[in-house]
Order: sequence, then C-alpha cells, then structure tokens
Amino acid sequence: MGRQLKFHIFRYNPEDTNSVPRTDDFYLEETESMTLFIALTRIREEQDPSLQFDFCCRAGICGSCAMVINGRPGLACKTLTRDLPAEITLMPLPVFKLIGDLSVDTGTWFRSMNEKVGSWIHNDEAFDPDAQEERMDNALAEEIYELERCVECGCCVAACGTANMREDFVGAVALNRIARFMLDPRDRRGEKEYFEVIGTDEGVFGCMGLLACEDVCPKELPLQDQLGILRRKMGWSALKRLFRVK
Ligand code: SF4
Ligand code: F3S
Ligand code: FES
Repeated sequence: MGRQLKFHIFRYNPEDTNSVPRTDDFYLEETESMTLFIALTRIREEQDPSLQFDFCCRAGICGSCAMVINGRPGLACKTLTRDLPAEITLMPLPVFKLIGDLSVDTGTWFRSMNEKVGSWIHNDEAFDPDAQEERMDNALAEEIYELERCVECGCCVAACGTANMREDFVGAVALNRIARFMLDPRDRRGEKEYFEVIGTDEGVFGCMGLLACEDVCPKELPLQDQLGILRRKMGWSALKRLFRVK
C-alpha cells in the first residue's frame, strides 16, 4: 500500500464574486511513479471537477504546469510525489495574473517581456525570401541552443525577489534571451543597442544577485553565468568609451 498523501491546494476564482481565497485539503493514496500532474488529474476526476490547473505536454516541454510546490516553484509534470513529504502544499505562481486556483496567465507577461527586450533576430535580410542563411560554426550553434532551451515556465520569475517587488523587472529569463541574441551573428543589433535595452533598473541593474532564478530553473539554464557575462561586457564597453578605445 502506498503512502496516504495530503494535499493543501490553493483555491480562488477571481471571476466569482463569492469566491474567497483559501486552501482545500484532498487525500490520495500514492501510486508508483506518481507525478503531481497525475495526482492533480486524479483529484479533479475523482474528487473536485472544479479544480483549475494547467498542463499540456506532461514532459517538461511546454512550461504550462509550473506552480509553487511546498514553497518552491517547479513543474508539476516533472515532480514525483515520492520526492516530497506526505503533506504537499500547492500554490499558484506569484507575479503572474491568477486565472483560478493553480492556473496563472504567464503568456501575457512573457509576451510583454519579449516585446520590451526585442526578443527576436533583428535582421532585415530575414524578410528577404531569396536571401541565403549564413553558415554558423557548430560550437557557436550549440552555445546558442543551450540558451534557447527555456520553456517560458515562469519559475525563475516567480522565485525572484526583484520580480515580486517590481512589475517592470524583466527577469533573468529576459537577460538570458539578450545574452543568446548577442551571441547570434544573424542579429544585426550592435552592442550599444543591446545595452540600451538591458542597462537599466528594469534589466541588469535591477538584479540583486539573489540567485533563486537559477536554483529553480527546471531546464538548468546557466542564468547566473549569463548575468555575469552581460555585466562584464557592459563594464568593458563603458571602459572602452572612457578611454576612447575602438
Ligand atoms: Fe523557466 Fe528556466 Fe526559462 Fe526561467 S529560464 S522561464 S525557469 S525554463
Ligand atoms: Fe532575481 Fe536571479 Fe537576479 S533571482 S535578483 S534575477 S540573480
Ligand atoms: Fe508541459 Fe509540464 S505539462 S511542462
């Protein structure tokens, strides 16, 4: 017989004027290889069909099932109940707009962040159907790919003290995007333009080095390295301007 699991789950429907924020308790017997996604699906099917939570791929790829699991942001589909104590508290990610219960709207936040930092290849030739893509060195392509693995789950944003305090902070996820585009020779933005985008309180200078972003990233992205690289590049660029070095 598996463990008896007790779930404390946040409940609130902002669309319903009678709804009051609270936690509801549910009990389930643990089964082999049970993930939080499986547990939540069973609770919804067997105990409360009104429970709201998001999932899509069930494989850690779509990023939609992120929630706060015993105080730590993570992906429900990749979290095994056997790695947790028998009492499990599930809350929605902070920072993002609550849709209901454990479901939040990360899409609006990510769209606005991507527009703010211009998270795409800036290159007019990209719109020319006859243009030929330049060859890229394999090692560089792999370096870019490493940073491209972000699934926009929002865990790093939810775990970041600055993002929780400042609505305008773009987060480590955006700085990772900029670091990725700075590597990409197809992006024609110059260093100055990149730094104008991130050299503000909303970007690099808003980060207080709290490190939670990298700790919780389910894709284990090297977010701290990217923050350090950007800071160093900005420092060099300022020195070069000071000493008028080309
Ligand atoms: Fe999620 Fe990591 Fe991307 Fe942040 S950087 S959104 S934690 S995958
Ligand atoms: Fe936040 Fe990560 Fe900086 S947690 S403060 S973005 S180091
Ligand atoms: Fe897609 Fe969890 S359901 S990442």
